[in-house]
This record gives sequence, structure tokens and C-alpha cells, in this order.
Amino acid sequence: MLQGKKILLGVTGSIAAYKTPELVRQLVQQGASVKVIITAAAKDFVSPLVLATVSKNEALQTFTSEDHSTWNNHVELGLWCDIFLVAPLSANTLAKFANGNCDNLLTAVFLSCRNTVMVAPAMDVDMFKHASTQKNLEIIAKNNIKIIGPESGELASGLTGKGRMTEPEDIVQEVINYFNPSLPLRNKMAVVTTGPTQEALDPVRFIGNHSSGKMGVAVANCLAAKGASVILISGPSVSLGNLNKSIKVIHVTSAADMLKACKQTQPDANIMVMAAAVADFKPEGFSEQKIKKKSSEGLNIQLVPTEDIAAEMGKLKKEGQLLVGFALETNDETQHAERKLKNKNLDFIVLNKLEETNQVFGSDFNRITIIDKNLVTTPFEKKSKDAVASDIVEKIITLVQ
Ligand SMILES: Cc1cc2nc3c(=O)[nH]c(=O)nc-3n(C[C@H](O)[C@H](O)[C@H](O)COP(=O)(O)O)c2cc1C
Repeated sequence: MLQGKKILLGVTGSIAAYKTPELVRQLVQQGASVKVIITAAAKDFVSPLVLATVSKNEALQTFTSEDHSTWNNHVELGLWCDIFLVAPLSANTLAKFANGNCDNLLTAVFLSCRNTVMVAPAMDVDMFKHASTQKNLEIIAKNNIKIIGPESGELASGLTGKGRMTEPEDIVQEVINYFNPSLPLRNKMAVVTTGPTQEALDPVRFIGNHSSGKMGVAVANCLAAKGASVILISGPSVSLGNLNKSIKVIHVTSAADMLKACKQTQPDANIMVMAAAVADFKPEGFSEQKIKKKSSEGLNIQLVPTEDIAAEMGKLKKEGQLLVGFALETNDETQHAERKLKNKNLDFIVLNKLEETNQVFGSDFNRITIIDKNLVTTPFEKKSKDAVASDIVEKIITLVQ
């Protein structure tokens, strides 16, 4: 995918620098030629020798060689690359970029570079939140520097929050997308839910359903193949073996967990696909201890409705955001689906009818009907779930702004 492309990787002094040999390896594996510039601080976190070995080029550190007999021409380096990718980008180097400081080889290349610059900031949550850092990011964004991430999660400091460097495979995907302007969902962020939810009754039992999550995984893969950056919110026991490596996964168990993850990710999403088979009911109470079987007595469990995730997302829907729902029905399917479409503020609904000739759960095949906002109904043939996902994603592409 990156055959013949030239990537100049700048590595700065963030703990995330330890991930850069893997980043270089993946870029090289995709066919790119990679040269590396490393700052003095970054050498505490990753060895220049390792970077030289995986990139098959000397890892450049200073303007001149040690004996001052040759120099690393920063202007030439800036002109050589198709992309100057700085990952991780420290708060310090970010501040230099924003202000035009030029006190090392890496910052001099930044100022000399006429080509695309992408950066993946990585720092502690408070460093990232700091007004100075935010101002610096705004400045470089206005100068057409593409900012990748950072992501939220556990940080090296032990704190949790935004500041983690985007994972190498996701950075590589961004680079691939850059060279594929024809990808229709490039620059779009999609959230897909999949699988069942489990609603706990006691520490060992739950109410769930037979969903395998295959349909949501297929949709997530198809969105990623069209250039979207995808977050998959997956219920338990979904097989993720064939998931595109660029897709981030958030694992959840109950409907309440899934709603929380959806609320966290929804503000940044252009596309929300609610493919999970969320349990409709959960036990009213949770028994801290395993409920004992008493030989001749039955057990009555009071159930209450779970959170309606698609409806909540419908309420939160932003201008220009696309919300897709799924309906699995056994009878009066069109009426039920149309009601859901309206009540949940969906842009379209994917209707699966569970019948003898269409065993949706666990199967690799599915037959769907898409009903859109204007109640235009498009039935499809029974196909593989990958082909069904492609029909759904084509519909998304026609609607997304
Ligand atoms: C253990 C350790 C971890 C650090 N992690 C980060 C980090 O993740 N992000 C960051 O911006 N700075 C981090 N720093 C601070 C930078 O290394 C420091 O600001 C340095 O001057 C950056 O230099 P450079 O931008 O020239 O590479 C860390 C420092 C230490 C000692």
C-alpha cells in the first residue's frame, strides 16, 4: 500500500517512543522507504541502533557527524519525504513547532519541509490539557499540520485520560489513507456496536442472547476499508480474529456499559452504527451471592427494561451525524422497523427478519431490508455478511456529509 512512498519519521522524547520500532517495521512492511530523525531526549526511550536496523537507514541525530566533517542536510531531508511524520510528538517539540524554534535537526527539518506533516502527540493527561499545549496544537492545526490522536486510556504516569499516542497500526492506516484520496470515508470517524450484552443476575448468571457479533464486525471492517477510523464497541464473546488492525475495540458487558462507551465516543463520531443485539430487559436486582437452587421451588425474576442505546444516541445526534439502527423481528417486521426508525431518530434502519430461511444469529449469511427516513424500502438478496456489510456501507457513503 505504501510502495515507493518516502516517510521521514521524527521521534521525540516521550515515553511512547518505545513503540516507534514497531511503527517503522509496519511502514517498511507496507513498502515505504523510511528515514528516522531522533532527538537527544528520545534516545532515553528508544535506541537509535534499533531504529537504524528496522528502517535500514542511519537514525539521524544531529546537524553534523561527530567529527564535524559531514552534515545532515535538513533542507534535503525536508524535500526528500512525501510525509514528515512526527510520532511521538512531545509537548516540548510541539511548542517549538508552534513558535518556529529551530535548535535541533528535527525542528530544522520541520521548518524546511514543504510536504505533508503529520504528528502524533503523546504526553501525560495534564500536559495535554494545559492551555499552552492546546494553544500550540491550534496553531499547528491552522498551519495544515495533520494531528493524529492522542487517545484516551491508561498513561505511563499511572493516570488515566487523553494523552496516549495513537497505536502504530492506526498511524500507519492514517498514512495509507493519505495516499488514497479516493477512499470515500477518509477523515470520517465511525462507531459501531456489536454482539450481545449480558445482564447479570448474580455473580455467575446473566440474561443474554445468541448474537455472534459477526454482522457488526463485518460493518466495522468495511467502514475501515473505505478509509474511516473506526471504534468497535463489542459485547462479550464476539470473535475479533478477522478484525482490521486499525480498528479500536472497547469491550463491554452490559447494556449500561455499552451506553457509557457510546456516550464517550459519540461526540467525535460522523457515523454511528448500532448493530449490537442489546438485551431489552435486565434483572431488577443483582444478587451479590449466587442464588441457591432450592429443590422443589421455582424462581421468579423481576425484569426491568435496559437502557435504549439507539434512542439515546438519537437524542444526542449532532448536525450532520449519521445514525444507523438494526432491527431483528419475527413478525410485523416493517411496521416495527418503521416505528423504531422514527422513535429513535435514525437515518436508516437495517431490518433482519428471523425466519427459517434466515437464521441471523451465528450465521455467515444474512438477508436484510434497508428502510430509510423517507420510508423508501430496499430489499436485498441473502448474501454473506461481508457482502451485506458492503451494501450497508454503500448506503452510508451516499448519506454521510
Ligand atoms: C520518564 C519520562 C517520560 C516522559 N514522557 C513524556 C511524554 O510522554 N510526553 C512529553 O511531551 N514529554 C515527556 N517527557 C519530557 C520530555 O522528555 C522533555 O520535555 C524533553 O525535553 C523533550 O525533548 P524533545 O522534545 O526534544 O524530544 C518525559 C520525561 C521523562 C523523564
